[in-house]
Amino acid sequence: MHVAIIMDGNGRWAKERGLPRIEGHRRGAMKVEDVTEWSADLGIRYLTLYAFSTENWKRPWDEVSFLFNLFVEFMKKKIRKMKREGVRVRVIGRKEKLPDEVVNIWEWAEEETKSNDKIDLIIALNYGGRYEILDAVRKISSENITEIDEDTFRSYLYAPDVPDPDIVIRTSGEMRISNFLLWQIAYSELFFLKKYWPDFNREDLERVIDEFRKRHRRFGGI
Ligand code: FPP
Repeated sequence: MHVAIIMDGNGRWAKERGLPRIEGHRRGAMKVEDVTEWSADLGIRYLTLYAFSTENWKRPWDEVSFLFNLFVEFMKKKIRKMKREGVRVRVIGRKEKLPDEVVNIWEWAEEETKSNDKIDLIIALNYGGRYEILDAVRKISSENITEIDEDTFRSYLYAPDVPDPDIVIRTSGEMRISNFLLWQIAYSELFFLKKYWPDFNREDLERVIDEFRKRHRRFGGI
């Protein structure tokens, strides 16, 4: 099973508590560790988390650099534990424009954990669904490939071996996809939770999976 999450509402979570937005992101990053553990526990094989979109560069530089820092610190602090617990860390997105330190830690985390196979934690960083499709198109045309079907196209995506998400969750009550995994979510079940990301808990995840199973029982058979 592949679960993909748009971790939205960190800013509002903080604002409601009279805290700076970055405090919401800090809490949000803590949830990344939790949700990875819960997912592994529940037998979810792939977990994709939207950490930074290609549109997020429009935010004030302070916030952007805080988010990159969170990513770097998270990898530095957690990689040993993740390695031990069978987590394979992968990052999807464009390396261009990202600070060297971010790219270095991205490559290091992938290398360190590449032989793990309990769960793939896929972080979408400087990621845009349209860019991913464009990047694939560019590669395909640079290789002068003319015979193209869905399988060929898929093999040019950032993580071609990862099955499409079964479930997409977005927290915070917004009902948008925001350029997340556009090709891959063609048949995904969508769940919109009226809860900010820092408040997301294990029960929420379990409830979504139960509901997914019910939806499937209705649509799968006669
Ligand atoms: C959306 O909330 C959240 C983000 C743009 C950032 C998500 C990033 C993290 C949770 C931390 C990433 C860390 C690691 C370790 C991968 P928002 O700021 O748009 O909230 P708002 O809509 O309420 O303003």
